[in-house]
Amino acid sequence: MSAGPGDAARPSAAIELRGVSKRFEQVVALDRVDLSVRKGEFFSLLGPSGCGKSTTLNLIGGFETATSGTLLIDGKPMGDTPAHLRPVNTVFQSYALFPHMSVIENVEFGLRMKGVPAPERRRAAAEMLHLVSLDGMEDRRPRQLSGGQRQRVALARALVNHPAVLLLDEPLGALDLKLRKHMQTELSRLQRKVGITFVYVTHDQEEALAMSDRIAVMDRGCVLQVGTPTEIYAEPADPFVMEFIGSPNVFRGRIEAVAGGGAEIAVDEIGRVRGRMIGDIRPGGQATVMVRPERVRLSATPPPASASQVTGRVAKVANLGFITHYFVRLSERQDALAYRLNDVDGGAEIRFDEGQQVHVWWDEGDARVFPADAGRSASASIRTRACETRERPG
Ligand SMILES: Nc1ncnc2c1ncn2[C@@H]1O[C@H](COP(=O)(O)OP(=O)(O)O)[C@@H](O)[C@H]1O
Ligand SMILES: [Mg+2]
Repeated sequence: MSAGPGDAARPSAAIELRGVSKRFEQVVALDRVDLSVRKGEFFSLLGPSGCGKSTTLNLIGGFETATSGTLLIDGKPMGDTPAHLRPVNTVFQSYALFPHMSVIENVEFGLRMKGVPAPERRRAAAEMLHLVSLDGMEDRRPRQLSGGQRQRVALARALVNHPAVLLLDEPLGALDLKLRKHMQTELSRLQRKVGITFVYVTHDQEEALAMSDRIAVMDRGCVLQVGTPTEIYAEPADPFVMEFIGSPNVFRGRIEAVAGGGAEIAVDEIGRVRGRMIGDIRPGGQATVMVRPERVRLSATPPPASASQVTGRVAKVANLGFITHYFVRLSERQDALAYRLNDVDGGAEIRFDEGQQVHVWWDEGDARVFPADAGRSASASIRTRACETRERPG
């Protein structure tokens, strides 16, 4: 972020990382990360295991020290400020409740350490338990609670200290799917209610999309893109981001022609496909084309000439109730996946059977064409360029 005349007027970010790197001997866990979390937002760090999410959180919390770079909380450089003097609290996946204390004793623990008088801290703790819907559980021991209830005690225990920022490291990871979904809703509701900045770590794309105001997508120590859930899903700036969120169809081939923001790619054994260019696309080069399954259309008759068009045979039809997945064999090596919402009225929707020949197509604007060396695709094992974060899609 560049310093300028407008900087004084701008409210400082809740958290800011400037060129932060973290090395563990040979491992570069974070590589010159720039990140700015706004006050009051629900901000998620999303990426596969080992990409550096927990390291980022631990640096903010003061449990790790950066190898280089600057970390600011509420505009103040943290330097060597110890964890307990930072205006942040952390909720981990393992609840780390004191087993010998009751629920309310657990929640008021932080206040007791600060020397808050008993009646006052009791009142504050009871209020927090009410906030997380645990009224009536005050005198239970942690072992008498379910996983979801324990996690809520951990939340109440962190929130009672009124931190400026709450750091959450995969807090729902140990819960079963149904409870996790329920807690996702609860957490978003709670965050809005208390207005505290949340920095939430998860490897679960759906979870991040469902809860966050903004998401930073990380891979191998880099932040690849920062944006709202809609931006991250609809306008991925990097092939890794597109592949990590959702299950796009991926085609690789040679760039044949470019015009007006679109490109035509020749894919071996399949034919020519089109998409919107993201980044530096030049004829003759290699490119990766990605199109999400809900954008892929199937028809018995040829599509408009302007659309991408290849043909294939329906290999498998999987009806999941509200949606049908069509797997279409395009070549020996490549299938296309298309989603169709099932028409509840049983009306106009055309269905296809296994074995049927179909045209597979999409509008140019619905596919994205990335230069083959852009970023690091999910399968690439080496980094091909330095970290580059995109706030806005290119
Ligand atoms: N204390 C440590 N010592 C050595 N390597 C570590 C340590 N903590 C994390 N790492 C490494 O740093 C990288 C990032 O780890 P982490 O931040 O825990 O990833 P995530 O939380 O995204 O799964 C990984 O390669 C991990 O093995
Ligand atoms: Mg982690």
